[in-house]
Amino acid sequence: MSFHEYTTVGRSGLRVSPLSLGTMTFGGTTGWGTDEPTSRAIFDRYVELGGNFIDTADGYTDGKSEELVGKFVADRSLRNRLVLATKFTFNAQSGNPNAGGNGRKNVYRALEGSLRRLKTDYVDLYWMHVWDGVTPVEELLSTMNDLVRSGKIRYFGLSDSPAWYVARAQTLAEKEGKERLIALQLEYSLAERNIEREHVPAARELGLGICPWSPLASGFLAGKYRREGATGKGEGRLEVLKSSANPVFNKFTDRNWRVLDVLLDVAKQLDKSPAQVALNWVATQPCVCSPIIGATKTAQLESNVESLSFSIPSDLRKRLDDAGKPELIHPYMFFEGVIHDRITGDVPIRAWTPEPRHRESSAAAPAAKHAAKS
Ligand SMILES: NC(=O)c1ccc[n+]([C@@H]2O[C@H](COP(=O)([O-])OP(=O)(O)OC[C@H]3O[C@@H](n4cnc5c(N)ncnc54)[C@H](OP(=O)(O)O)[C@@H]3O)[C@@H](O)[C@H]2O)c1
Repeated sequence: MSFHEYTTVGRSGLRVSPLSLGTMTFGGTTGWGTDEPTSRAIFDRYVELGGNFIDTADGYTDGKSEELVGKFVADRSLRNRLVLATKFTFNAQSGNPNAGGNGRKNVYRALEGSLRRLKTDYVDLYWMHVWDGVTPVEELLSTMNDLVRSGKIRYFGLSDSPAWYVARAQTLAEKEGKERLIALQLEYSLAERNIEREHVPAARELGLGICPWSPLASGFLAGKYRREGATGKGEGRLEVLKSSANPVFNKFTDRNWRVLDVLLDVAKQLDKSPAQVALNWVATQPCVCSPIIGATKTAQLESNVESLSFSIPSDLRKRLDDAGKPELIHPYMFFEGVIHDRITGDVPIRAWTPEPRHRESSAAAPAAKHAAKS
């Protein structure tokens, strides 16, 4: 794998770089964003290095992120070469319930604003940013279908949504001959692996590519913070947002420090930076198509792009896999271990996949054991 190999987004014909550039920080003035010249330098470097996949949202930095992306793209006449992704959901006018959420009225309002700020007449990948808890899936699907067919968007996907909502949307789209969604955008990293329970299996079944956000857990996995009592200390976003009430930035937990210890050791053995190993791990997880990376300096971006130029040997990968494995809770405990053995009859069963079977399958040994018993 390398940064120069393109990948399709789920079961679609859209070709993107295997690392997308996140622009949530562009134009930020709150101590963890980047001003216009730095944002432009990061954008330019990403494009020079061969990247084609840009992620923004109408709500990032009050629309400034979209404005800057629109300007940088227009200044270099890059619209056709780039895949522009943006999002709707967040409310733009306090007190007005239809200026936010995923109802048709807000989606049209939001899209008109995004197209204006991005200086374009279509969005390549339009994301529902967050499930709003009320909009029926049929309405969302019909809105997205109309937007694809009118040419205002090329594809759509769901971010931060329950897996049941995703599954219902895709199944209805298939049954009703509507445009299908192609991707999910969710927080996923060595430090945040909860999507492995429901969303990854759903993505596999429904042909969806996963675009992980915060693949470095907001910079935590770069290894630049150190424990300090019940919290942490270092230079970067998590220091600035230490007292934030937003749970996304609550990364200084005992569990995460334990994951980081393993990551630091693995990175040392591989002679790579912790950020490179963390990005390589997430980029090579099942169903992942393009992790969305962020940077506040061009040097971070350049180093992060190198994360795809090596492989993690299986013994070290297992250490990383084991370090932050999600807790086995109900009902997932029924799907593996002793209860699962009671379903299979103690015989290994492998679900069919299009990939060829490994030639040295160990399936024969337990089957022989079973035969000997009878
Ligand atoms: N759908 C959603 O709900 C959602 C939510 C969040 C984000 N997103 C998308 O995902 C994108 C990426 O998210 P993120 O910024 O949280 O990703 P991230 O990769 O977890 O964190 C990026 C931050 O880590 C630090 N960093 C990156 N590389 C580094 C390196 N090599 N060494 C040291 N520090 C490094 C930088 O911050 P500092 O220099 O300040 O430490 C950088 O801004 C966003 O821009 C946005 O497009 C989507």
